[in-house]
Amino acid sequence: ERVILAYSGGLDTSCILVWLIEKGYDVICYLANIGQNEDFSSAEAKALRLGAKKIIIEDLRDSFLNDYVWPSIRGGLIYEDRYLLGTSLARPCIASGLVRAAIRENAKFISHGATGKGNDQVRFELACYSLHPTIIAPWRLPEFFERFVGRQALFEYAAANDIPLPVTPKNPWSCDANLMHISYESGILENPDQEAPESLYQMTSSMETAPSDPTILEITFDKGNPVSLMNIQTKEAITEQLALFVSLNEIAGRHGIGRIDIVENRFLGLKSRGIYETPAGTVLYHAHLDLEALTMDREVRKIKQQLQQKMADLVYCGFWFSPEFDFIRQCVDTSQKCVNGTVRVSLFKGQVRILGRRSQLSLYNQELVSMDAHGGYDPVDAGGFIRAHAVRLKEYYRVQTETE
Ligand code: ARG
Ligand code: SIN
Repeated sequence: ERVILAYSGGLDTSCILVWLIEKGYDVICYLANIGQNEDFSSAEAKALRLGAKKIIIEDLRDSFLNDYVWPSIRGGLIYEDRYLLGTSLARPCIASGLVRAAIRENAKFISHGATGKGNDQVRFELACYSLHPTIIAPWRLPEFFERFVGRQALFEYAAANDIPLPVTPKNPWSCDANLMHISYESGILENPDQEAPESLYQMTSSMETAPSDPTILEITFDKGNPVSLMNIQTKEAITEQLALFVSLNEIAGRHGIGRIDIVENRFLGLKSRGIYETPAGTVLYHAHLDLEALTMDREVRKIKQQLQQKMADLVYCGFWFSPEFDFIRQCVDTSQKCVNGTVRVSLFKGQVRILGRRSQLSLYNQELVSMDAHGGYDPVDAGGFIRAHAVRLKEYYRVQTETE
C-alpha cells in the first residue's frame, strides 16, 4: 500500500519514513515550501537515500499567503489575546497539499510526525478527513510510541538504520517555521519560568541590537488585504504580495517586533508554553485594526469582534475546513468591503506605533466631531439622549435607597 508522508527532513519524520518502509509500505514523501528556511535539495536526497519511492516538493507560498494568512489578517485573528496562529494556519494549507498529492499518486494513506499530545495532529487529520483519505499517525500507535520513548530511542533507531543525525548539536527545543512565524516549544522551554536564551530568536533582533532610528512605513489595504508597502524615506513601494510580506518580515524583524512568550491552552486541554516570532503579522494586525476603526460602522464592528474570536478558536482547533468556518469567514469578508485605505506606522525597538491613517471610505467626519464647528449637529439633542438613558438608572437607585 502507498502512503504519503508529511516529511520535514528532520529526525522524527526520517525515522517514521524508515519505520513505515519496515512495515511494508511504499512511501512517498511530501515536503511543502511555505516559506521556511530549509535546504530542500538535501532533504530530497536524504528521503530518497532512506528508501522513499519519491519525494514531492511543492511551493505553496502564494497559496499560504493568499488563502490562509490574508484571511487571518482580514479577520484580525488572534488566539487567547496574543497568538497570531502562524502554525495553526499552515496546517490546513499543508494538509490540502497532502490530499491533492495522495489523490494524484493514488495513495491510500496519509501519515505525519505530529505527537499524540498536540494540536497539529488534530489540524492535519481533521483537514485530511474533510478533504479525503485515511490517516496513519505513528505517534499514536502503541507499537510505535512504546518503541520510541524519548529522544534517545530515536537516536538509536537512526544510528541502526543509517539515518543521519543532525550534525550540529540540535537546539534543546523544537521549532516550526513558515513565512508567517517561527514557534519554539518543548525541551528546556517546558519549564514556563525558564527564560529563553537570546540565541533562540531567528526572525527578530533583540531590543539592544535593534536600530536606534525608527522606520516609517505606509501600508495600504484593499478590502482588508495589504496591497502596498511603502517606505517613507525611500518612497519605494512594494505591491507584489509575497515580496511585500517578506520585506515587512525583514524590516519589522530588524526592529525586534513580534516576539511573544506565552502559556496557551491546547485543544486537547493541556497547557503548553510557546515562544513565537511573528514580525510582519504583528505589524499588519495593528495596522489593519486601526483602519477598521476608521472605516467600519460601530455595530458591525461589535458583531465582527465576536465572530473573529470564534474564527480564531476554529483555526486553532483545526476546523479550517468546516461548515461553521465557511459561514463565519463569509460574514467577516463582507465586513471587509469598507476596509480600504492607508495606515502610517513607525517601527522602533519592538514597538509598532500608528502615526496616522486615511481612507476614501473613512466614516470619520472632522467637521462633525470638531470642537470648533457645529457640523450640522444640534447639542440640544444630547440632553434628551442622556435623560432617556438615565430613566432606568434613576429608578434603580431610587428603589435601592428606599429599601435600605
Ligand atoms: N502551539 C502552537 C500551535 O498550536 C505551535 C505548535 C508548533 N508545532 C510544532 N510542530 N512545533 O499552533
Ligand atoms: C506536536 O505535538 O507534534 C507539536 C505541538 C502541537 O501540535 O501542539
